[in-house]
Amino acid sequence: MKTFIQALPKVELHLHIEGSLEPELMFELAERNHISIPYPSADAVREAYQFHNLQSFLDIYYQGANVLITERDFYDLTWAYLLRCQQDNVIHSELFFDPQTHTERGIGFDTVVNGIYSALNDGQEKLGISSRLILCFLRHLDEASAFATLEQALPHKDKIIAVGLDSSELGHPPEKFQRVFDRALAEGFLSVAHAGEEGPASNIRDALTLLKVSRIDHGVRCTEDEALVEQLIKNRTPLTVCPLSNTRLKVFDSMAQHNIVELLRQGLCVTINSDDPAYFGGYMNDNFIAVANAHSVTQNELAQFTFNAIDASFVSPQEKDRLRQITQSFLDNLPV
Ligand code: ADE
Ligand code: ZN
Repeated sequence: MKTFIQALPKVELHLHIEGSLEPELMFELAERNHISIPYPSADAVREAYQFHNLQSFLDIYYQGANVLITERDFYDLTWAYLLRCQQDNVIHSELFFDPQTHTERGIGFDTVVNGIYSALNDGQEKLGISSRLILCFLRHLDEASAFATLEQALPHKDKIIAVGLDSSELGHPPEKFQRVFDRALAEGFLSVAHAGEEGPASNIRDALTLLKVSRIDHGVRCTEDEALVEQLIKNRTPLTVCPLSNTRLKVFDSMAQHNIVELLRQGLCVTINSDDPAYFGGYMNDNFIAVANAHSVTQNELAQFTFNAIDASFVSPQEKDRLRQITQSFLDNLPV
């Protein structure tokens, strides 16, 4: 199964670029930018990654991002992720970035977006990996800050396909950002939101109705509301599920208890993603392997995660067909 997973074409729809910052690159950037890190080595940083919930992770994650200063830093971060995509046979990726994590520290919005975007262009040109960029608002910050961020994004509309909502879900429900999302939608952005990760199923309902999202990020707590599950199936609303993240952040006690395979078999449009791979122990293949090790899944079911992600992606119908053909041709040419 491991060989099959390695070779299976994959599409990632839930990846925080700041969450792909490996400790080794963190040290390299810290040195380059004369910033001190409160750990003696990359291994010591990794050892500190013991989380008991989302907030305990976010505190460390925002601290890690402090080493990102220049456009080149954002380029290097994104390029390193794209090289991992190549290794894992990820053919298309839709990435989140959190501009407020950087603008709050005095880094220019343009510096962030230009660095990331220029690496994504090179990813398409040199590696053949297509991508889209999604701007996430930090939900623990206020509405005014989100509005100011949206304003900064307007000159970069050509580079950003959608807006999203991440950070601390508890205490910061979708309704807090309804007006910002209204404005973003009016400006032509698509929308997504983290919902039903740590928060209740009602956040999923509210993200759909108030924020008009095209996909739900995580969404695993939808099972607490049977009528909602029926609705998600009927509308084929995609859920971008992150198995290793969910076990690391104790959303589920173990991978065997994770509901992703059950959701797939119920007919939901679920996908597998890595969320913050540098913090949660793995990229796309690791997530697929962790699911396959804990649940008995068939090759067709694993491939269905890719087909679901293609359906759920923000590319044109022609581009979706191209991605489907790559995947189907891989399946058609499997040794019998
Ligand atoms: N930011 C980065 N990863 C996140 C997650 N899993 N949930 C909410 N915010 C995040
Ligand atoms: Zn996430």
